[in-house]
Amino acid sequence: MAEEFQIKKTKNKKYLDEILKLNENANNSQEGADIKDILCSNNSYVWAAFVHNNLIGYAVAKSKRKTLECNWIYVKPDYRRKGIASEIKKQQVLFAKDKGFKDLYTYVENENSLKVWEKQKNLGYKVEKSGNFEGYDVWIRF
Ligand SMILES: CC(C)(COP(=O)(O)OP(=O)(O)OC[C@H]1O[C@@H](n2cnc3c(N)ncnc32)[C@H](O)[C@@H]1OP(=O)(O)O)[C@@H](O)C(=O)NCCC(=O)NCCS
Repeated sequence: MAEEFQIKKTKNKKYLDEILKLNENANNSQEGADIKDILCSNNSYVWAAFVHNNLIGYAVAKSKRKTLECNWIYVKPDYRRKGIASEIKKQQVLFAKDKGFKDLYTYVENENSLKVWEKQKNLGYKVEKSGNFEGYDVWIRF
């Protein structure tokens, strides 16, 4: 049976600390340096994913004028391909629409990350991309 997961939008310090730990354990030091500043800044938004109250993934976005930049997302390897990133991205889109953002921007390194956005067009947006196999700039336009 599929495990239930919950997504919470949060700035609770306890969860921010757990996200930093998750990020360090993922051994992604370059992102780690970035993410610490972004997590704690006033213009950032954080979504945390839980299974049985354990934090197993997160996404961070920050506002840049009328654009919501959604460049940071991670799901623990054991919990991938269960739709968790898709659900987080859906919540980011609904949040951005609700708050009056004009669009979302993200940079993705591969086609798989692009697919997560492209699968959800039923939420009523267009995906515009530029780039090549090395990476894409992606705009989600409402
Ligand atoms: C990218 C990432 C966040 C996806 O999380 P996830 O919860 O597994 O994503 P989802 O289950 O919502 O996947 C949605 C769709 O994306 C595509 N997809 C995701 N991961 C894929 C993979 N490894 N191979 C092929 N397609 C993939 C599939 O189309 C998938 O739908 P399907 O499972 O019905 O075929 C996760 O793999 C991760 O944390 N990777 C390491 C960090 C990273 O790369 N972050 C993104 C930086 S650009």
